[in-house]
Amino acid sequence: MPAEPIGVLGAGWVGLATAAGFADLGHRVTVRDVVPERVTALSAGEVPIHEPGLAELLERHRERLRFTLELDEALESAGIVFVCVGTPSTYSGDADLSAVWQVIDELAGCEERLVLVMKSTVPVGAGERVRRRLDDRGLENVGYVSNPEFLAEGTALANFRNPDRVVVGSFAEADGDRVEALYAPLGSPILRTDVASAEMIKLASNAALATRISFINEIANVCELVGADIEEVARGVGLDRRVGPHFLRAGIGYGGSCFPKDASALKQLAANSGYHFQLLASVIEVNELQKRRVVQKLRGQLGSLRGKTVALLGLSFKPHTNDMRESPSLVLAPRLLAEGAIVRAWDPVAGEEARQLLIGVEVAATLLEAVEGADAALIVTEWPELRKLPCSDVRDAMRTPLIVDGRNLLDPAAVRAAGFAYEAIGRPSAVVARLDEAGLRS
Ligand code: UGA
Repeated sequence: MPAEPIGVLGAGWVGLATAAGFADLGHRVTVRDVVPERVTALSAGEVPIHEPGLAELLERHRERLRFTLELDEALESAGIVFVCVGTPSTYSGDADLSAVWQVIDELAGCEERLVLVMKSTVPVGAGERVRRRLDDRGLENVGYVSNPEFLAEGTALANFRNPDRVVVGSFAEADGDRVEALYAPLGSPILRTDVASAEMIKLASNAALATRISFINEIANVCELVGADIEEVARGVGLDRRVGPHFLRAGIGYGGSCFPKDASALKQLAANSGYHFQLLASVIEVNELQKRRVVQKLRGQLGSLRGKTVALLGLSFKPHTNDMRESPSLVLAPRLLAEGAIVRAWDPVAGEEARQLLIGVEVAATLLEAVEGADAALIVTEWPELRKLPCSDVRDAMRTPLIVDGRNLLDPAAVRAAGFAYEAIGRPSAVVARLDEAGLRS
């Protein structure tokens, strides 16, 4: 298809990945954000988020990309405008749509048909309400399409180029056709639906993935009690093609800007509609409890944590991002401080964010600095850099050589051979190594 001018509203993860992706497909893209510093930085070629390959791609297509504070500029010649604004949780657990409404209320009439494409995650029924508001404002010439995003942080660009599916939900067939045409060069399956179903596909997809994680975490917790090894169990279960191997990594629980928010939004949406979504309520509760289980493991090895130094390693909610939204580290740091522990922390990229968010925690510049004199090193996020944790430098630096592996990142035999006691998630006592048994208590 010929290059088409595109507008993107919101220069967050989704907006920037979408803008870079469409620029890469040859389109001219104007990105509008309401934060002046963000627009200035992006215009100067600085990318305010850590996403592999994003800065390079934005730089490569600089001449096709424009960043602005003005909505008019993003709409100027664009026939298709992607809405990529934040929809955070409110206190009630519902999605806060104020940024979406602001966009709708700012829109002026247009002569040429404009298609507004909702990429932000919204509750089912939001499209219907937007359509009504547009009609009430006499904006019948503005079409509305739901095109949920399935990008995961850390792999957003690869997910854009090679999606499992593209979902296009529309009120008017022709609007959906225009959005479908934009994605056609990717050669991926495109599913055309009504708007409500497209909205539900997004929420149900994230709920399904969150459910798998809480499921495997509960299996892991039972494994610990009955002497099975979750790593073997997950491999064996995942080989069944009906189950599949993905999202069966047991650990400290899911975090991030999506699963917690979307699970809560779907549970709330169901409740608001008169249905108690019992399974999802349990998925959320299991995840909350899972984050805290490592504190019991620390206590089991060290006794009282009062005065003990714990090194929190990996602070972003997952590797290859500096995003700390809903990261387990945000729960663990205050929990450990409340137990009387001294908490040091380290992350390969999220150090700056952590300094602002982890009150009362010393954020170290290097891994070795974080473990110096520590009684335990706690792996919260499976950054590849942490694979080298069980080494003599770290062992010599720590007061008590104990590693609690909240992500089952390390090979237990290698950790023991390097002279550490070891705790992990869902591993039998034959695999973990207690400080006492290993004669390592200081
Ligand atoms: C997730 C979905 O994977 C995307 O498809 C979706 O588009 C996105 O949410 C969104 O709604 O915007 P993301 O939150 O970036 O993407 O990251 P994931 O890789 O899905 O991981 C989410 C959390 O689950 C992380 O905390 C991760 O550590 C955890 N996780 C993941 C596990 O604990 N175990 C697993 O097996 C997989």
